[in-house]
Amino acid sequence: MHVIGGTASTALAERISRELGNAPFAIPFTKRFPDGEMYVRIGGRLEGDDVVIVQSTRTDQDLLELLLLEDAVREAGARRTLVVVPYFGYARQDRRFFPGEPVSARALCRHVELDADAVVTVDLHSSQTLTHFKKPAFEASGIPAIARLLRERPLDVLVSPDKGGVDRARRMAETLDKPWFALEKRRIDSERVELSLPPTMPVLIEGKRAVILDDVISTGGTIVEAAKLLKRHGVATVSAACTHGLFLRDAFERIKAVVDEVYSTDTLVNPAEKASVAPDIAQILERQASA
Ligand code: R5P
Repeated sequence: MHVIGGTASTALAERISRELGNAPFAIPFTKRFPDGEMYVRIGGRLEGDDVVIVQSTRTDQDLLELLLLEDAVREAGARRTLVVVPYFGYARQDRRFFPGEPVSARALCRHVELDADAVVTVDLHSSQTLTHFKKPAFEASGIPAIARLLRERPLDVLVSPDKGGVDRARRMAETLDKPWFALEKRRIDSERVELSLPPTMPVLIEGKRAVILDDVISTGGTIVEAAKLLKRHGVATVSAACTHGLFLRDAFERIKAVVDEVYSTDTLVNPAEKASVAPDIAQILERQASA
C-alpha cells in the first residue's frame, strides 16, 4: 500500500503511512500554471498497488487537488485508490434549507468518489451523508483520538454545546466514565449564537473542570459563548475539544482568551492539533486492504 499526502494533509498522511507499518509515503509535486491552473505530479511506481490519497477538502483548491490526484493515481495504474478525506468540506450543507439550494454534501460525494474505490472520512457533520456515496464509504470517529488525550487531562464533566452534539458527548462520557450534559443553543446568524443551561441540570458544575466537545470549531462563536456561560455558573476550568479545528480568522485567539486549553485532532492543520486520528483511519484502511 502506498500513501500520498495532498498539500492539505501532508503530516497526517505521513502519520497514517507509519500506522500502516511504514507504507511507502510520497508528497506530490504541485505548481501553478501562469493562468492559475493547478498542476500535480506523483512520483514512484504505483502499478498494481493499492494507493491511499489523503487530502482534507477545506478549500475549493484542496478539493480540486484531490480530484487531480485521483486521476493521476488511476493513470499510474494503481490497482485500487482509497481516498481519505479527513475533513470533508461542504458537509454542513447536507440538505436543502431553502428552495434553489444544492445539497452540497451530496454533490461533493459524487465527485470525490468518481475515481475512488473507497472513501474514508472522519466525523461528518451528519452520518447521513455517507448514504450519498455509491462506492464503499466509511466514517472514522474522532472520539477515540480525543479520548486518548483527555484521559491524561483534568476533566470532571463533558459538555455538548448543543443538541446536535448529544450523541458525541454521551459516547465520550461513556468512554471516559464521566458525567455529561448538553447546553441549549440558538443560532442568531452564521457568527453569533445564544446559549443557556438546560432547565434541569443533571450534573453539579460548580467548581468542576469542564470540557466542551464539538465536531467543528469554525468562527469560535459557540465555544466562546459556552465557556463564558459555564464560567458565569462557577465552573472552575473550561477546556474545548473538537475533531475539526477550522479556527477561522481570529477564532483561536478569541477562544484562548476564555478557555484554559483547546484540543483538536489533526484532520486539519491548526494550532490546537494535539490528538491524531491516524490510528483510527489506518484501522479502516487495513480492513479495506484485506477485504
Ligand atoms: C454546529 O452544528 C456544529 O456542531 C458546531 O457547533 C459549529 O459548526 C461551530 O461553529 P462556530 O465555531 O462558528 O460557532
